[in-house]
Parts: sequence; structure tokens; C-alpha cells
Amino acid sequence: MVNTLGLLLGLGMALTLVGLHFLKGTAKPVPEDIASEVLEQRASTVPETDFPEPYNRSIGGGGGAGAVAGGAAEGELEEEEEDEGFDPESIPEDEVEYYEIEFAKEGETIEVANNESLLDAGEEEGWDLPYACRQGQCLSCSGRVASGDDAHEFVRHSNNETLSDDEMEKGYVLTCTAHPTTSFTLETDESP
Ligand code: FES
Repeated sequence: MVNTLGLLLGLGMALTLVGLHFLKGTAKPVPEDIASEVLEQRASTVPETDFPEPYNRSIGGGGGAGAVAGGAAEGELEEEEEDEGFDPESIPEDEVEYYEIEFAKEGETIEVANNESLLDAGEEEGWDLPYACRQGQCLSCSGRVASGDDAHEFVRHSNNETLSDDEMEKGYVLTCTAHPTTSFTLETDESP
């Protein structure tokens, strides 16, 4: 009895396995290959770089644009350099302002534009003012805000390689590169 039952069970299992073997399974849908779609989508969200990148990281850009982009990167550098110093020529015409500068030793008050140096303005009056480099690299042209107040409050230098902050705080300026930001009295030929 037990043997017959076991036999039947074994037979049943064998038949089931054979049946399963011949059954066609339901095909599992193969997902579409979306890899390139995803990459393109990601690439479109990344801003184009202006410079060639190693291994052409930016998809669809980079490589060919290298030469041109190099120029653009250089331009950015130049801009940064310009930002560091005050460039009087960068003042637009309609933003040029004039201030009353009293040249104490010369005994006259003249109008000096904020894009003009104190030295240039004085020379235009015909005054023989001291200078040497005219580039903010020596002390020959130095003068002083007559009140002795902090010169930072009265002028901007386009270049100052010689006066310390301390000296400027005592009123000293380099007339060759100092441009007025307000009216004041100047004593020329004064050095720290
Ligand atoms: S002349 Fe040299 S700093 Fe002005």
C-alpha cells in the first residue's frame, strides 16, 4: 500500500516536471536600452564648459571647442586682473565726476575728474609738480591730504606700490596715480 502510494506520488512529480519542461514560459520583457537617453538628458543639464576638459567630460561639447574656448578662458583671467586694481579708463563717460581740489601750495582750486590723476590735473594748469615713474612705483610725486585725514577717504589709486596703508591713513597719496573721490585740499611735494 505504502509502496503504491509512493510510486504514484513519484510518477505524479515526474510528470509535472516533464510537463513544466515543455511549457513555454511567459517571456519577460527586456527593458529598452535607455542608457544613451539618460546620458543625453544628464548632459543637457550640465552647462557647457568654456575650456577643453580631460577625456571630453562634457558630452557633445568639449573637444572641438577647445581652441576657441581657450581664448574665452583667457578673457576671464584678464577680467579678474582688472578687478583687482582701479582702472580710471573704465569709468563710463556719463559717470565721470568732478571734484574741487585745492592745491594749497599752488594757491588755486581746480576741478579734477575722478578719471584723472591729481598730477595730470596740476600739470594741465602749467604747474611744475614733482614726479619720476608716473606709475605708482616710487615716492617722487607724493603729496598729502592737508587735513592729515585718512587718504582712503579722498582718493583711489590706480596703482600704489610704495605707500603703506599706515602712510595713507596719515593722508599721503601718490599724485601720479591718485584719483579724487571727493573734494579736498592737497599739499603737493610732501612725503612720509
Ligand atoms: S611718480 Fe613715481 S609714484 Fe608717482
